[in-house]
Amino acid sequence: MKKITIAIDGYSSTGKSTLAKQLAKHLGYVYVDTGAMYRAVTLFAMQNGYIGAEFFDKESLINSLSFINLQFKFNADLGFAEMFLNSKNVETEIRTLEVSNFVSKVAEVSQVRSKLVEQQKEMGKEKGIVMDGRDIGTVVFPDAEVKIFMTASPQTRAQRRFKEMLRNGSNVTFEEVLKNVVERDYIDSHREDSPLVKAEDALEFDNSNVSKQEQFVAVLDLVLDVA
Ligand code: C5P
Repeated sequence: MKKITIAIDGYSSTGKSTLAKQLAKHLGYVYVDTGAMYRAVTLFAMQNGYIGAEFFDKESLINSLSFINLQFKFNADLGFAEMFLNSKNVETEIRTLEVSNFVSKVAEVSQVRSKLVEQQKEMGKEKGIVMDGRDIGTVVFPDAEVKIFMTASPQTRAQRRFKEMLRNGSNVTFEEVLKNVVERDYIDSHREDSPLVKAEDALEFDNSNVSKQEQFVAVLDLVLDVA
């Protein structure tokens, strides 16, 4: 079986990472969560006082990009790679609602995007990779053999994210999560640089009423057809 590239894009909380992890585990591929990279840059901007409720000092963030080092390190106990920002494990910190509320603003900045896209292309050079995000099939790997575009209703997605955050001990309300999901989707789909759009050759999956297992089996079928 030849190694291929699998690009998974879609709206927030559509279960992209769940599907990507299942595929990577089954195929022995590397899984890369590009959202974690944008989240880690956002955390860096927050820690340095470049972004807050009423302000965003883009220039300072752009000037500091060379001081941001992002690494994924595989955690065998968890079965997936965790995000390290300048050698510190930030996997928990990057999943807060505060980071979620700022991340789409940071992801609009072209200089941030080009730095991360370059690293993502490098990680996928050898193929055998499943990458999820918003611009994987359109910008990072336009030649990916399999492209999936995932959607689900905002209510379904917010409910999933809400449950996940409660499980992780966050103190959030469903309304806060729903607002964040809707706002992020809007910014992500309307930004100038690499907006979230379905690649022409991507297959669209609405998984509002489909189980994780059914979805995995359907996509795996597709992968095995081309690999
Ligand atoms: O996937 P996740 O929801 O963690 O992504 C967080 C945010 O990072 C997205 O809402 C989007 O603003 C940004 N992002 C992006 N391009 C990617 C991955 C994520 O702009 N490839």
